[in-house]
This record gives sequence, structure tokens and C-alpha cells, in this order.
Amino acid sequence: MSRKISLTVNGAALEAVVEPRLTLVDFLRDQAGLTGTHVGCEHGVCGACSVLFDGAPIRSCLMFAVQADGHAMTTVEGLRDEDGSLGVLQDSFWETHALQCGYCTPGMLIAAEGCCRAIQIRPMRRSARRSPVISAAVPAMFRLSKRSVSPRPAGVSNR
Ligand code: FES
Repeated sequence: MSRKISLTVNGAALEAVVEPRLTLVDFLRDQAGLTGTHVGCEHGVCGACSVLFDGAPIRSCLMFAVQADGHAMTTVEGLRDEDGSLGVLQDSFWETHALQCGYCTPGMLIAAEGCCRAIQIRPMRRSARRSPVISAAVPAMFRLSKRSVSPRPAGVSNR
């Protein structure tokens, strides 16, 4: 049985009718038209589907769209500047070649935005990039990422 949901995505109010089994990532891509959020492993391992859920990063392949009812989401499209140009984090990734094939880059950007919010750092524009604030963000994020790594289960290789 379909259900009506109301949520905020990238600052815009959205209403939709969804099937209860529809994942949040499929809703964002197929119904909301926000294809910047990618689908990789579909079981919570790769992070390509990450979005901010009420300000914190989550893997949207592990949630149903109905669970997002009443909540606020930010996708990679929401990191753009108001004029549609690259946001400061996106610009920083581009400038430093912080991507490989690019498929998981939206998830990496969302994780970086989540880290900045968690440690209350506001990335700055290119003209101010040499400031101590942005310089401090890099080691702080690295430290945070080290803390969030869980031990690899026995018998699982690094490949
Ligand atoms: S698609 Fe890999 S964690 Fe969601």
C-alpha cells in the first residue's frame, strides 16, 4: 500500500507517494530526480549513496523512503552554491584532484560535509583557502576518519 511522505530535500519541501519498500536512494534518484547520489553496493558498505539526514551522514540504501517522512535531507546537489556553481567542498575536491573514477565522490563529499558540521568547521572560498581554519580541517577530518574505522573482521582481506 502506497504512503504519502513529506520531507525537505536540499532546502525544498517535497511531497510524494511511495511504496513502503522503496529505498531512500531510489526515491531520491528516481522520484526526486537527484541522480548525484549514486548506488554502489546496495548493502551499506561503500558509502556512494551517502546523504545528510537531519545534518548527519547516512547511507540511503539502508533506509526506506517512508522513514524519511518529516525529515530533512541534503544530497550532493545541495552542496552547490546558490548560483549553481561548485560549492566550496566540491571546488576543493576538484582543485586537489580528490577523486579516482568519481563514482563515489558524491558520498565522499557528503562525508566531508558531515565531518565539517560535526567539528563545526566552515570551509572557506578559494581566496581565503590559506587560512588556518581550512588548514585545520584536513588533519581534523583525518583524525575523525581514523576514529570511525572499525576493526576488520578476522578472515576478511584488505582487498
Ligand atoms: S550503495 Fe553502498 S553503502 Fe549504499
